[in-house]
Amino acid sequence: MLTPLEPVIYAGSMSLPFELVENTRRTAPERLAEIFANPGFVDYFSDHMAVATWTKAEGWHDSKVEQYRPWPMTLGTAVFHYGQEIFEGLKFYRRADDTIWLFRPEANAQRLARSAQRLDLPVLPEADFLTSVRALGRADAAWVPSGGEMSYYLRPVMFADESFLGVRSAMRVTYAVVGGPAAPYFADGLTPVNIYVTTTYSRAGEGGTGAAKCGGNYASALLAQREGATYDCSQVLFTDAATHEYVEELGGMNFFAVTKDGCLITPPTSGTILEGITRDSILTLAPSLGLTCEVRPLSLSELFDRISAGEITEAFACGTAAVVTPIASLVQVVDGELARYSLAAPCGEATRAIRSQLIDIQWGRRDDMYGWMQKVEL
Ligand SMILES: Cc1ncc(COP(=O)(O)O)c(C=O)c1O
Repeated sequence: MLTPLEPVIYAGSMSLPFELVENTRRTAPERLAEIFANPGFVDYFSDHMAVATWTKAEGWHDSKVEQYRPWPMTLGTAVFHYGQEIFEGLKFYRRADDTIWLFRPEANAQRLARSAQRLDLPVLPEADFLTSVRALGRADAAWVPSGGEMSYYLRPVMFADESFLGVRSAMRVTYAVVGGPAAPYFADGLTPVNIYVTTTYSRAGEGGTGAAKCGGNYASALLAQREGATYDCSQVLFTDAATHEYVEELGGMNFFAVTKDGCLITPPTSGTILEGITRDSILTLAPSLGLTCEVRPLSLSELFDRISAGEITEAFACGTAAVVTPIASLVQVVDGELARYSLAAPCGEATRAIRSQLIDIQWGRRDDMYGWMQKVEL
């Protein structure tokens, strides 16, 4: 096993400052109001971004928050060719009292570090990650919407930013945090969605990058997603690459099935599944709602049989973007025939209870008994 790349050397200092270089042409409040009226899922990026550079010689340096702008790259830049890239996703939540909060951002920092190690990118220390997102929050607080389930979605990203065509790890890497206002990912919120089950395409295999949040995982899922869309399915449920018998996760969310007696079943994240922070939070809070949890392999045949027998009555997808999204049916095409397994209670009690518990904690309407929320000091 190789040791990870040296994490940090910053002019003798331990941490990156991410000081603000003000964008002097900030978006006018009237324009911002128009954007808030119809933000899409980050159709518009806010006025600033956080950036830092890593080079093999200097480590992390040149960190700042500056004007959001096109990034200068040539088409020879390594990331375009070999996809050495990772990212994260988290949100700013504006509460009724106008304060702005983050949900478990240290978990995103730690996952970015694990992704970096897998993609042979340099690790950004957790403290620097947290400084970068908070600094962006301070600079673009006006961009954090309020009301409903509107939020500001942050996208930290790290990529090989060096022009060369040899296949090797980059010696120059850029880290950035960009983002903007986001309406709920599934516009209808609690409306159940159909999920396409594929046993043709795989998202990840043993020893691959399934547990890392890297662009290639998403690119490889797009074809299956488009195929699923032809059956009115908004996401794809992938199975294990070796046997295609076991449930793994969706293209951009983790998966839970719920039995009629309140047991949550979700597959273990043993290397091929992204370790979702929402998933982990649900497993933590479920007992307080009288729900039990089974983290174990779940075969498609068990899933389909128990849905048909009325034993698994609810299923949901979860993630930062989608929060908790109820599933109406699982759709599979076998030998050209379409089979549909409809959940008896797609917006059932367990799904609703988990969803409201989570969003109430995030928006400060309920006690943060797990210490998950962090306030952004403006
Ligand atoms: C493939 C995949 N699985 C699961 C998740 C859920 O992770 P989290 O709850 O940390 O957002 C995401 C979203 O980030 C994802 O892209």
